[in-house]
Amino acid sequence: MNARELRRKYIEFFKSKDHREYPSSSLVPINVLGNEDESLLFTSAGMVQFKPYFLAVAQPPHPRLTDAQKCLRTTDIESVGDSSHLTFFEMMGNFSFGNYFKPEAIEWAWEFLTEWLKLDPSRLRVTVYKEDDEAYNLWLTKIGLHAERISRFDEDKNYWPGKAVTMGPNGPCGPCSEIFWDTSPDLPFDNEWNGDGNRWLEIWNLVFMQFERIGDLIIDNALTRDGHWENVELLPLPNKNVDTGMGLERTSAALLGMPSVYETDVFQPILKRIGELSKRNYETADEPIKVVFRIIADHIRSATFCIADGVRPENTGRGYVLRRLIRRAILKGQRQLGFKKPFFADVFPAVVEVLSDQYPELIERRDFIIRTLQDEEDLFRSRLAEGIKRAEGLALTGRDAFMLYDTYGFPLEVTMELAQERGLTIDLEEFNRSLEEQRQRSKVAGGIAEDVFSKDAGVLQELTKTIPATQFAGYSGCEAEAQVVGLIVEGKIAQSAKKGDRVEVILDQTPFYAESGGPVGDTGKITSPTGSIEVLDTQKVNERWAHIGKVLEGEISVGEQVHAVVETARRMDIERNHTATHLLHAALRTVLGAHVHQAGSLVAPNSLRFDFTHNKAMTEDEIRGVEELVNHEILSDRVVQAHADMPIAEARERGAMALFGEKYGDKVRMVEVEQFSRELCGGLHVGHTSQIGQFRITTESSVASGVRRIEAVTGIGAYQYGVERDRLLREAAATLRTSPNEIAAGIERLQNQLKQTEKRLEGLRTEQASTGAEVKVFEVDGIKIVAQKAENTDAKSASIIADRLAEQNPDSAVIIAAIDEGKAMFVAKVPALLLQKGVHAGNLVREVAKIAGGGGGGRPDFAQAGAKDLSKIDEALLAVPGIIEGQLKSK
Ligand code: SER
Repeated sequence: MNARELRRKYIEFFKSKDHREYPSSSLVPINVLGNEDESLLFTSAGMVQFKPYFLAVAQPPHPRLTDAQKCLRTTDIESVGDSSHLTFFEMMGNFSFGNYFKPEAIEWAWEFLTEWLKLDPSRLRVTVYKEDDEAYNLWLTKIGLHAERISRFDEDKNYWPGKAVTMGPNGPCGPCSEIFWDTSPDLPFDNEWNGDGNRWLEIWNLVFMQFERIGDLIIDNALTRDGHWENVELLPLPNKNVDTGMGLERTSAALLGMPSVYETDVFQPILKRIGELSKRNYETADEPIKVVFRIIADHIRSATFCIADGVRPENTGRGYVLRRLIRRAILKGQRQLGFKKPFFADVFPAVVEVLSDQYPELIERRDFIIRTLQDEEDLFRSRLAEGIKRAEGLALTGRDAFMLYDTYGFPLEVTMELAQERGLTIDLEEFNRSLEEQRQRSKVAGGIAEDVFSKDAGVLQELTKTIPATQFAGYSGCEAEAQVVGLIVEGKIAQSAKKGDRVEVILDQTPFYAESGGPVGDTGKITSPTGSIEVLDTQKVNERWAHIGKVLEGEISVGEQVHAVVETARRMDIERNHTATHLLHAALRTVLGAHVHQAGSLVAPNSLRFDFTHNKAMTEDEIRGVEELVNHEILSDRVVQAHADMPIAEARERGAMALFGEKYGDKVRMVEVEQFSRELCGGLHVGHTSQIGQFRITTESSVASGVRRIEAVTGIGAYQYGVERDRLLREAAATLRTSPNEIAAGIERLQNQLKQTEKRLEGLRTEQASTGAEVKVFEVDGIKIVAQKAENTDAKSASIIADRLAEQNPDSAVIIAAIDEGKAMFVAKVPALLLQKGVHAGNLVREVAKIAGGGGGGRPDFAQAGAKDLSKIDEALLAVPGIIEGQLKSK
């Protein structure tokens, strides 16, 4: 049974136990309610999407579910390449939501392994949480395992999620019982096993989800989101649940009796492909080379699935993890397998071969995946050489590592590996400090929220349980009087904050718009009689608004009355971009058709981004058409009106556009641009379209198969865009030494010149290659004459060739017939020795040229003459010995 069959078998088994099959969710952690799980970068386990079911905030479609889930964990990235660790893997799972519990979970896992898969029970052992007598007794009495095969361990080993934050999401957790496979059955059974080591391979984890973990999530590594918990408290969940995860690749290796996951059918074709591309053989390679093969095979799987789920290589967050995986694989391939040219995207077809039947997105998004991989490899290669050279002169301090990361896009590991090769270690604290400093420097929209807020989201969630929902007072203005109802200071719930503290302030009502969907959160100021706070971002959790920022002066306490003021200019810019987004949406549907739907958006003060369904690149005409239509609506000064509390049926009837996958209540808010657009939307807009000023599309590109992206600017941003374009044009014109209007003609001229130069260069190359072959040597009265016919050679090249021949043949007369673009010329050079004997270059070329219908002359030692009749060149050259003989005689 191979891995593919094992996948089916597992689902079939649990279906026979009344489970319903559920599709894999995306690697980007989106739960069953369609919300992103902020506590994780990636889906790292089968249960991630089901969190709302475990917390009992939503009803599952069936109390028992089963699935094969794509998972990504980078916790073990350093171990990838050994026999069992992977970053991307498939986790088979069976789940109970308040239905069955420990007895069934244990019994079925054992039944599946020993009866359906027929794994040898004498090669299995289990672990349980040290205080879980129930699970211990079930293994002992119900399954009949010998006590020596049941080990008890503490929370480090038998609690899930464990301490590593990247393992599993914030929230539901519980004691677990793990099943291990003996990879060395010939060794005597180890009674004293401490749970570590390579002999026993963990293949299945049964988690008894009983608690909700509340605590402070401390992110230690801002890049990878690794971190740990502090001040943990466990609250019982409303139900007792089961979450199990069986590693598909590991169990498959056990089934096949193979020593490593890489020997299974989901890896072999990938390793083979790497072998073909690198002209090496995985089977016969040395262990260190095998490790590189495996790392590339692992990373290509992770990278392609990330890209298929919409992640793009970037320098932070999820995109950084992707970039790191791609670049790490490429670097190893280059350095250890000798790939000189881009190769990584060429491995992808093998991933399609082994996994696309289960995950059709690999085929659907094939072109996009390949292009993303290729682009990233090109970018990395162009930076790599430069960066490595730069690194050579450095002591590789933490600050240097940051510079390489920031300027050359070197993932930290790449620099760490360079350092290791030189026996150095990178100061990670210094690296993180530099990273933090840079973040502080660039407090752009959203930036601060990503750093601070996600770290505190758990705390805010906790705080929301004790305070009422925030009233939003921002539709009617930018200011409000309010009361402080909650404070989080430096990540902890607090009663007051003082100057310099990093805070999140929760008010009973607020004019600040909190980020949701497209638009980013507002910034501004909150002042009280005793202090003031700079608000750098606004986010919301459970309808409680968090004003994120810093205490500028004095102090601020819970219960105080404050005055909250939004930064108006920035708010206006966001509104311009937001209304423009609605206009753009309607314009796209007019120009491209009704198949266009919004697939995502970002509305920031300085630009807007709009993703939409459309399956080919827009033409230049379509882009300009859409841009013109939007600008037309702006100039028509349409009234923009929000209709609050409209029954959803009425909004539908009036043709209001709703977003896919969005859940709406009975009453909705419809934003209408008079005679042009109607959309369901809770956001803020300009009152009249003319306030947008101007709208310019800056780029149109692909995000995923069937999804295009438009980036655009409005208002002063559009004006600045024009100014910047103008500057670029003027700069280009100045470089071309022409006026902006003449740029195209100037470029054409340059291109023509370049073409000619290339042609000549080519001629020169040919000539160089044929040097010797085309050269004729004559002898007259003991004097040597070297003659050469050179095609595609202009005057300048001809004299260079003449000089070179003269140098190689001292004391010889040299004559070149150079042919270029239908014209020919002769160049002659005569050394001093022959001048004395009466040889004259000027007279020589004149006579020779005459034969070919031309004329000219010059000095005795160097002369040039033009010719017209190209068919006579050979004849003319053959006449040279006779002419020189005549010159010698007449002396
Ligand atoms: N969530 C548990 C794990 O990932 C079991 O599925 O190990």
